[in-house]
Amino acid sequence: MAEKLNLYKCEICGNIVEVVIDGAGTLICCGEEMKLLKSRSTDGMPEKHVPFVEHMGTSHVIKVGSQPHPMTNEHFIQFIEAISDDRRYLKRKYLNPDEEPEMVIKCLEEDDFEAREYCNIHGLYSNKENE
Ligand SMILES: [Fe+2]
Repeated sequence: MAEKLNLYKCEICGNIVEVVIDGAGTLICCGEEMKLLKSRSTDGMPEKHVPFVEHMGTSHVIKVGSQPHPMTNEHFIQFIEAISDDRRYLKRKYLNPDEEPEMVIKCLEEDDFEAREYCNIHGLYSNKENE
């Protein structure tokens, strides 16, 4: 069963979808079952991926990661998103190569959201552990 806000990827064409409202069905793309993307919350490679949040007054800056992640045409962060802990609000920023791997948000309470990002090569990372 697909759960709200989970991300799924087609391993054939590369489509990535996010579940807006969950249902009992199986997500299919290119004739195959889509793969659930599980986020990681630890870094095990030279490029740093785990998002972290800097609080600046009423603004929060989500950065990827503790050392800025590369932003080249071949290897870059495709999006960053913030999801409120009650799972009712979502904000996403799509990034292009050569941009800073960060997003500023102003509308969510401090420490009240999950920050996650997607690297085109290394996949999904979160600042919170998911089971
Ligand atoms: Fe990466």
